Amino acid sequence: MNLSILPGNSLKGTTPLPGDKSLSHRAALFAAVAAGRSQIDNFLISGVTNQLLNALTHLGINWKLNGTSLAVEGKGLGGFSVPFGPLNCGNSATTLRFLAGALASTGTPAVLDGSESLRRRPMDRIIQPLQQMGVNIKGTSGCAPISMGVSQLPLKGGTLTLSVASAQVKTCLLLAGLASGEPLSIVEPGFSRDHTERMLTGMGVSIRSEKATIQGRTCYLTHLIPPAARYSLKPINMVLPGDFSSAAFLIVAALIIPGSEITLQNIGLNATRTGLLDILLSMGASIQIAARPTRNGEPVGDLTIRHSVLKGVDVSGEQVVRMIDEFPIFAIAAAYAKGTSTVRDAAELRVKESDRISALCVELKKLGVDVAETPDGFSIHGTGELHGGVVDPHGDHRLAMSLAVAGMAARETIVIQNASIIQESFPEFADVITRLGAKILIDDKIPAAERVSA
Ligand code: S3P
Repeated sequence: MNLSILPGNSLKGTTPLPGDKSLSHRAALFAAVAAGRSQIDNFLISGVTNQLLNALTHLGINWKLNGTSLAVEGKGLGGFSVPFGPLNCGNSATTLRFLAGALASTGTPAVLDGSESLRRRPMDRIIQPLQQMGVNIKGTSGCAPISMGVSQLPLKGGTLTLSVASAQVKTCLLLAGLASGEPLSIVEPGFSRDHTERMLTGMGVSIRSEKATIQGRTCYLTHLIPPAARYSLKPINMVLPGDFSSAAFLIVAALIIPGSEITLQNIGLNATRTGLLDILLSMGASIQIAARPTRNGEPVGDLTIRHSVLKGVDVSGEQVVRMIDEFPIFAIAAAYAKGTSTVRDAAELRVKESDRISALCVELKKLGVDVAETPDGFSIHGTGELHGGVVDPHGDHRLAMSLAVAGMAARETIVIQNASIIQESFPEFADVITRLGAKILIDDKIPAAERVSA
């Protein structure tokens, strides 16, 4: 699919957004190991969450979708069936890493595999600590396919130190830790998103986080005390907030398109996710935040965004973890800002769905952006102007949507090739931006949503 973004219209209107991807993944999987029926509303239906639901089917878990309401019949820890073939995780590292933890805690043998792109992503970061816990797991040169045999339960606890802050790894290990015979502590160099800790706490698990200085360095520790009974995790009842990482595309679009004013309703505002908000505010963005009641421990609010003149900014250190998925869209804000923006300490971006540093620099140059690549980031000298062109998202959903936003404020049309990858996390993207006023063509045709309201 080709997505053509025509220059012109400002964005106006109010919209809710589909459920958060990170919370959808966790809620579906944690519900499968809970005791009894869970009900999850505003569940994200997308490429990556479909992979997880399919895997759950292969593990013998019954679930049912009614619109965006997901009901899951949890079987408790130890309730998975042994799957017949490899579990296909598609492009989703979250699915693979979370499943590895859940399989470890349920003692289920299985093979985890995925697309060519997933097979390139580093899995040593889960294989090594899981082996330390006594899990029978091996990879293929540190990557998928990953084979998990029968492990002797209970697993070992103790302290595991991660070299990179990663909520995917932390979640994998916490899930495995549910089957540990002793307390487990995970040490991270940064505070990665804490949705797992909040959700497991709601399910009755004893979990606690703290900041500490170890050998002169600031670290973040997560301590888990495994539940005494394997069938004791409480089911989940939750309406998921809108995904902040999807909201990020609309926030930046409204900021850079003159005359825009939009409100995004019921967006998840967990502080471990909203680093981009703080950075945009420091760039001069007009964003009003109206808090709503929390949902199962997750902060939620409405965001009103108005077009703003932005100035360049530097991003580094702890800020990077809090906006790890938002660098492609941050680069677009930086390209339309006045002055230079620099990103440092972000080498982790090279092992996401694409090498996001290199892919961003290659594609932005095609649109006339003054961008320079560095080993752990990039710098952009904003001119406030982009010309048109044909770009490729390198198989990366977030790059595809960021390039689309770039097109909304460009002088000429920008065509994003292979844009169907957007389905991975935000299938409604084209409909939502069209309803707010963007002019787009899908494979050279006006989309249905625009035809209806015209
Ligand atoms: C995620 C964590 C992040 C993020 C990914 C989803 C999660 O990965 O990039 O899109 O749901 O835990 P890392 O924490 O491994 O950086």
